[in-house]
Amino acid sequence: MTETTTSSGGRPSLPMQGIPQPRRDEVLDLPRVHISSHPVMAHKMTALRDKNTQPPEFYRLVKEIGALLAYEATATLALETVPIETPMGPMVGERLAGGIGVTPILRAGLGLAEGFREVIPDAQIWHLGLRRDEETLQAIAYYNQLPHQVDLQVCYAVDPMLATGGSAIDAINVLKRRDIPRLCYVGIIAGPYGLLKLSQTHPDVDIYIAALDESLNDVGYILPGLGDAGDRQFGTF
Ligand code: PRP
Ligand code: URA
Repeated sequence: MTETTTSSGGRPSLPMQGIPQPRRDEVLDLPRVHISSHPVMAHKMTALRDKNTQPPEFYRLVKEIGALLAYEATATLALETVPIETPMGPMVGERLAGGIGVTPILRAGLGLAEGFREVIPDAQIWHLGLRRDEETLQAIAYYNQLPHQVDLQVCYAVDPMLATGGSAIDAINVLKRRDIPRLCYVGIIAGPYGLLKLSQTHPDVDIYIAALDESLNDVGYILPGLGDAGDRQFGTF
């Protein structure tokens, strides 16, 4: 969906029209922002963005990109030592210290979370439903399955698209009400406007993305982007 109409079916609302946006080069070096430079990622991103890529292939690519992002975003996880016996004798091995949480922002975050599970099968998956109102671009919460008791070293909020940043900021706000030592946001494509907003609102959160695009159009879609990530995963055009 690349154009919105008012709830009364009248003229399209243009919520980003006239709103100043930072340029891409102005947000490239924000602290705690990691933009993938892996050639395999670049290859998969081209296939993902292509308008001829159909939902089954699109979903598969989101999952694969999710696994690559998971690999990058987990590079600094804490380890603890553990004595084990190999068939040849004793040794001291290492294992992840503390649980890993993954919070897909529904529904477009589902494919990314699947990719994370390929890399960390033991990850706890906490679903959070946020829907962007296409007239106001405000995120509306509609579902929350976060446990009350948590024991994690890190939780990753995952969502393919960071446009105005409203959904990501709200998701991190929700996660901050839990006792989690470290929070990260993981997305596929960010626009400069939302990336700056998220980074300024939550400067303690690490942000991992596959690509930083140019801008948002008047209705709040990322350019050049990939269109609607939820619709393209689930075929709801
Ligand atoms: C999309 C996307 C993000 C949000 C990004 O979800 O997956 O959650 O919009 O926009 P923002 O940065 O301006 O908040 P959408 O609301 O379309 O819901 P969906 O996942 O159900 O398709
Ligand atoms: N949500 C999407 O799915 N795509 C965009 O470009 C912006 C928000």
